[in-house]
Amino acid sequence: MRNGPNAVGVSSPLMDNRILIMPKVYIKTYGCQMNERDSEQVAAMFVQGGYTLTGNEDEADVVLMNTCSVRDQAEQKALGKMGLLRKLRQQRPHVVYAMMGCMVQNRQQSLFDELPHLDVAAGTQKYHRVFAYVDNILKSRQERRMDCLEDVFVGEHICDVASEEGSQNTICDHVNPGQRSSAFVSIMQGCDMKCSYCIVPYTRGVERSRPIDDVVDEVKMLVDRGVREVTLLGQIVNRFGREWGIEQGKSAFVRLLERIHDIEGLWRIRYTSPHPIGFRDDLVQAYVYLPKLCSHIHFPMQSGSNRILKLMRRPYKHESYIELCEKMRQARPDLAITTDIIVGFPGETDEDYQETKKTVERIQYDNAFIFRYSPRPGTPASEMEDQVPERIKEERNQDLLAAVNKIAIAKNQALVGTTQEILVEGPSKTNKQRMTGRTSQNKPVIILDGSVDLIGKLVRVRIDECTGFTLYGTYCPGCD
Ligand code: 5AD
Ligand code: SF4
Repeated sequence: MRNGPNAVGVSSPLMDNRILIMPKVYIKTYGCQMNERDSEQVAAMFVQGGYTLTGNEDEADVVLMNTCSVRDQAEQKALGKMGLLRKLRQQRPHVVYAMMGCMVQNRQQSLFDELPHLDVAAGTQKYHRVFAYVDNILKSRQERRMDCLEDVFVGEHICDVASEEGSQNTICDHVNPGQRSSAFVSIMQGCDMKCSYCIVPYTRGVERSRPIDDVVDEVKMLVDRGVREVTLLGQIVNRFGREWGIEQGKSAFVRLLERIHDIEGLWRIRYTSPHPIGFRDDLVQAYVYLPKLCSHIHFPMQSGSNRILKLMRRPYKHESYIELCEKMRQARPDLAITTDIIVGFPGETDEDYQETKKTVERIQYDNAFIFRYSPRPGTPASEMEDQVPERIKEERNQDLLAAVNKIAIAKNQALVGTTQEILVEGPSKTNKQRMTGRTSQNKPVIILDGSVDLIGKLVRVRIDECTGFTLYGTYCPGCD
């Protein structure tokens, strides 16, 4: 086994009182942006508790995995990785293994059978306890913990930890937000929609929204630390605060957008994901009068066949979905639209699939995530007859991908030669000499001649080349 230069061996850093000096935590996140954000918060708690974060699993004293259950593949990946990492114990028996997130909620006690070396398993509403559990175990190396009961939201706060011992004020404290230009903010949790294929309502529970003032305070705090762009997260963001009703024709979500828009120093607002149900005209109009709202919407369609939408328990028709896209494009002509589509849902015939493809071509998405239907045990669709063979799912996946890519490339090619405003996020992952950022349309841009002093700035970039996914350009301060 390879050990990194700072690897913690069994001999050295364990002191007599069995407390490690600056233990290292390796955090691996699967799944959605909500998970990314939960991981960030847990990471911040570890940092405050005296741990250092490491990207090198070989030197970890704590291995923490934040998991996703949306598709079987994601679960298998996490199980496989956690299984492999068991080897770390051969050299360092104190290593603590912890899992959090949807897979824990989904599998509960059986996770300990599948992964006998696992020490801590915390469900989606208990991630804020992970640090305390792990820390105790690392000190004592004795206990195992399972915690995934419904949480009681003290004072209606989704991430309220005031009542949690030893964790005050840490959960909403992002890791090094001062170095970030962009941050995620969770505005609600859970989902009441119960789409027939989806495990999320079982793993994330019922819809709960944070109070508007709380969200606004968090965004202000982030802006004070240098954040310039926020992405508001929720399973169905446009259902935020439904229980508070409509005021002067505006939903709670639009009222929240307006309040956030007023925050000085914040330049960009994004949100993900909305649902066509409850997507009202006030939200469409927000694209006209809220310029900080970015020109991008990720708008899951799932299928273009009305018959399949009904089986999916998505209560809209593809005609009304298209109409909404058109209304939004009228409100914001340069709006980029992306989507999620499932192929091979039980009973999906070739005609159903062709309807989906036709809708994709009609809407001309800027990009789309295409998923092969994955039966999730306990969901109604997994019990349906007419499950589609994997081979057909794969064929439809490849065919749709080709159609989506063709449109995506054409849309990006149309941007070559233009100048775009980019919020610079940091060095590119693949080449640290280059900076990367995003346009308002959420298109990733590699700035070929960008330097670190651009980080956190809105800059003009001339687009020189593109692929279906990424734009490449040069810094062009004089351009407009
Ligand atoms: N199989 C395949 N894709 C799924 N998604 C959700 N559940 C499943 C499933 N069982 C997709 C949906 C959703 C995205 C996050 O994952 O398209 O919008
Ligand atoms: Fe799952 Fe449907 Fe809720 Fe989205 S809206 S989280 S797909 S149940």
